[in-house]
Amino acid sequence: MQKKEQLYEGKAKKVFATDDANLCIVDYKDDATAFNGEKKGTITGKGVINNVMSNHMFQLLEKQGVPTHFVEQLSERETVVKKVSIVPLEVIIRNISAGSFAKRYGVEEGIAFDQPTIEFSYKNDDLGDPLINDYHALALKLATREEIENIQSMAFKVNEVMKAYFDKLNVILVDFKLEFGKTPDGKIILADEISPDTCRLWDKDTKEKLDKDRFRRDMGGVEEAYQEIMRRLMAE
Ligand code: TMP
Ligand code: ASP
Repeated sequence: MQKKEQLYEGKAKKVFATDDANLCIVDYKDDATAFNGEKKGTITGKGVINNVMSNHMFQLLEKQGVPTHFVEQLSERETVVKKVSIVPLEVIIRNISAGSFAKRYGVEEGIAFDQPTIEFSYKNDDLGDPLINDYHALALKLATREEIENIQSMAFKVNEVMKAYFDKLNVILVDFKLEFGKTPDGKIILADEISPDTCRLWDKDTKEKLDKDRFRRDMGGVEEAYQEIMRRLMAE
């Protein structure tokens, strides 16, 4: 596998072409941003942890029947993935109130829902990723009705698999964000990453935050929180 030119640089990852037109290499950075890039920083070692954790989750999900972009980990920070065009939707599943949900609806954090919620944001940095519903996504031609239904059912399946997995690590899966991609033959698969950047993860006993909220909210102990999640993943 030969790494070729850089195709794209995002806030947390770079994507490179390879000698295979159907494959890319993602390279995870330690850069961290919040609030649509307004807040910037570094979380030392984050790239390694997010790479390893994402690949771990993608392999677990594949085993449970969820198709993902994962192909092969190359190094601490680099992974070969299937080349997809990203569906410009951020798909957010919530099990417990937190973050923008708590703020928007004026409720405290930590309320367990009877059933998970799903919401979509239009992935567009210039617009600040505005919240949209499925009709808006159709109107904007971001995906077809069938694709949206498929994405919803995959997202709920991911939630069930991940909730059960984190429970074994004594971690509560509060909420998370997923992105999906389309392969050249039109198949929708799970893409991007699954990491403490994109999930809220709370210790089951102490409710301590073990995710990027420590960075967003200047709570300190950011690196330690990522390392603690990594430690629990590796111990499992
Ligand atoms: P929110 O409560 O800020 O809407 O975040 C919901 C979940 O989505 C949380 O686990 C963090 C994740 N998330 C991202 O991965 N990227 C983002 O840009 C935002 C705003 C949230
Ligand atoms: N991904 C960031 C966050 O989690 C949003 C941003 O990029 O500003 O808050």
